[in-house]
Amino acid sequence: MVGLDIQGLVVRRGSANILDGVDLHIPCGGTVVVVGESGAGKTTLLKAIDLLISPAEGVMSINGLKYWEGQRVLVRPEAIRGDIGFVFQEINLVPHLTALENIELRAKVIAGRSRVSAEMSDLLSALDLVGKEQRYPDELSGGEAQRVAIARALVSAPRLLLLDEITSALDVLNQERVLASLKKARELYPEISLLAVTHLSSFSESIGGRILRLEAGRLFD
Ligand SMILES: Nc1ncnc2c1ncn2[C@@H]1O[C@H](COP(=O)(O)OP(=O)(O)O)[C@@H](O)[C@H]1O
Ligand SMILES: [Mg+2]
Repeated sequence: MVGLDIQGLVVRRGSANILDGVDLHIPCGGTVVVVGESGAGKTTLLKAIDLLISPAEGVMSINGLKYWEGQRVLVRPEAIRGDIGFVFQEINLVPHLTALENIELRAKVIAGRSRVSAEMSDLLSALDLVGKEQRYPDELSGGEAQRVAIARALVSAPRLLLLDEITSALDVLNQERVLASLKKARELYPEISLLAVTHLSSFSESIGGRILRLEAGRLFD
């Protein structure tokens, strides 16, 4: 099956099941927005997909490549990292690297991939970062820093882009700019599947796609 496919995902913390049997399919080029209250497990879901935490049960595959089953990773984690871009809620650029160096660092880490990324200049221009390349993170506004983080996630030409509340720390003007830039950047990668989580209904409306609720560890239409 093309795109992201998840079946029966369970994540435990102590004795509680934070995720309790999540099924999710996002086709290539598809968008899913997961809404849920604070503490519902939205970040846990994204981290489990990116293998930043280990699920207790479930099967996950991207474009038919099964990379997690039960409690085991089935591919080299580095192999799957290049296929998944992650934009975190808290902006986490490397402080002593410029905007461009932050983006290039990821490109280097996943070097050797056979897939070709969009030209860096196209990516910077789609994300409205031209002229900001040499700035350090503390010289960027929150919105600019988040756009750098999106460029960093996309530079590996991932198959799946995970967005964790990327606009919740921004004012309304910057929220709109980030979403407009995201839309342009995405046109460079028409095949990418996108999974965004948010507690803001305004975000889910403006990004489009299918909206699911995360409640009691499961996804609902
Ligand atoms: N590192 C952790 N250790 C233990 N429990 C955690 C940890 N991170 C999150 N949790 C718990 O997991 C649940 C889901 O958290 P999270 O995925 O961050 O929710 P959301 O992103 O929807 O706000 C919460 O009950 C939270 O307290
Ligand atoms: Mg969260």
